[in-house]
Amino acid sequence: MAFFLSWIPLKNAVVAAKLFIGYLGSTDILNQAALMSILEHNYNQVIQRLQHACMDHQRNSDEVKLLAVSKTKPASMVQTLYDLGQRSFGENYLQDGEAKITELSHLADIEWHFIGPLQSNKTRSVAENFQWLETLDREKIARRLHDQRPEGMAPLNVLIQVNISAEGQKSGIAANQVMAFAEMLMPLSNLQLRGLMCIPEATDDETKLRSQFEQMKTLFDELKAQYSEYKLIDTLSMGMSADMSLAIACGATEIRIGTDIFGAR
Ligand SMILES: Cc1ncc(COP(=O)(O)O)c(C=O)c1O
Repeated sequence: MAFFLSWIPLKNAVVAAKLFIGYLGSTDILNQAALMSILEHNYNQVIQRLQHACMDHQRNSDEVKLLAVSKTKPASMVQTLYDLGQRSFGENYLQDGEAKITELSHLADIEWHFIGPLQSNKTRSVAENFQWLETLDREKIARRLHDQRPEGMAPLNVLIQVNISAEGQKSGIAANQVMAFAEMLMPLSNLQLRGLMCIPEATDDETKLRSQFEQMKTLFDELKAQYSEYKLIDTLSMGMSADMSLAIACGATEIRIGTDIFGAR
């Protein structure tokens, strides 16, 4: 009897623990659902801003691709955006990106862009896993990517990163080197040059930003004219959460948006 009485509270404790764990599980599901609905809301807002900016500047919204910058965010969020129709995703870190690419390999038409700085000893991962590299600025890296791109895969689409603000420590090649760099890329048949990319100076000064975006547009038009027979030079990647409308006004054909879709990191 004594044993039985002492067993009752123990049994209650077990039941209570099970209920508590169940409760935690359901709040997780609720939190997850809330998170995904915020994501959907943010995504729709960004699409609307993109469309308004295009309308305001007499551009067709089909001309501007949205790259969702999913760096550090889980595959479940990428899947949610994919289900809403988003196809292009940007990653800055190789390990983080590779894990998501593997987890989401069943999504046949998803498109992965590497947009982070790339060291020459890490090129193989980009060559084997990504469809785009947006931050190409060194000949050695271009040659390694060309050599390492697996046979049977389409050429890696590349954008030349331009240090348009001419800041000392910044990645990207100088504006006056773009044509020579493009020329060097031409024989590398496993790379397909698609255009230019920049990260402008971190400033709120709209005049400065506009001037940098306009210089990029001029360079992009020169590049297109130079290689008009290739026809595939079609991408000017510039504009992030804070300056997407200005970038669209200045001729961006791709904007890269992280914070305004996924929230602050
Ligand atoms: C190269 C690059 N482009 C775009 C973005 C997205 O910027 P934002 O979060 O301001 O939209 C990032 C973010 O880290 C980035 O590194």
